[in-house]
Amino acid sequence: MIHGHITAWLLALILFFVSIGLHKSGKAKAFKIVQMILRVLYLAIIATGAGLLFSGINIDVWYILKAIVGLWVIGIFEMLLGRVANNRKTSVFWIQFVVAWLLVLYLGFVKLPMSFLTP
Ligand code: HEM
Repeated sequence: MIHGHITAWLLALILFFVSIGLHKSGKAKAFKIVQMILRVLYLAIIATGAGLLFSGINIDVWYILKAIVGLWVIGIFEMLLGRVANNRKTSVFWIQFVVAWLLVLYLGFVKLPMSFLTP
């Protein structure tokens, strides 16, 4: 489950930048396709995240926060690509992107005790 979770968000992060690159080089169709794949990955991230959350661990406030920030990251992905596609201003979302990623990595790797290792 944890490997699925990490694989899913790592792949999403890579494809996110791929899609930005595709848009920059004017490949609208390829951009759309990658955006579709990304949406499937969002579901995989949420499903594996929820799977971890409800795998029998003692859910405390940090897990809730981790889940919320994880959903926030996904929301920002979607907002950024939507606005990039329509050539709208994105600076506010890029700031959120950095803040949310730092937070989610901190919460996931540093703060939470990898409780899935000791089920
Ligand atoms: C793009 C969004 C997300 C990112 C980048 C992310 C990142 C991470 C990272 C880095 C870890 C720690 C992996 C490890 O310790 O080896 C983790 C674990 C976890 N994630 Fe996510 N996550 C995201 C979305 C979500 C969502 C939406 C949920 C809940 C619905 C969620 C729930 C969890 C849970 C419960 C764990 C296990 C924590 C533990 O016991 O250590 N994540 N995630």
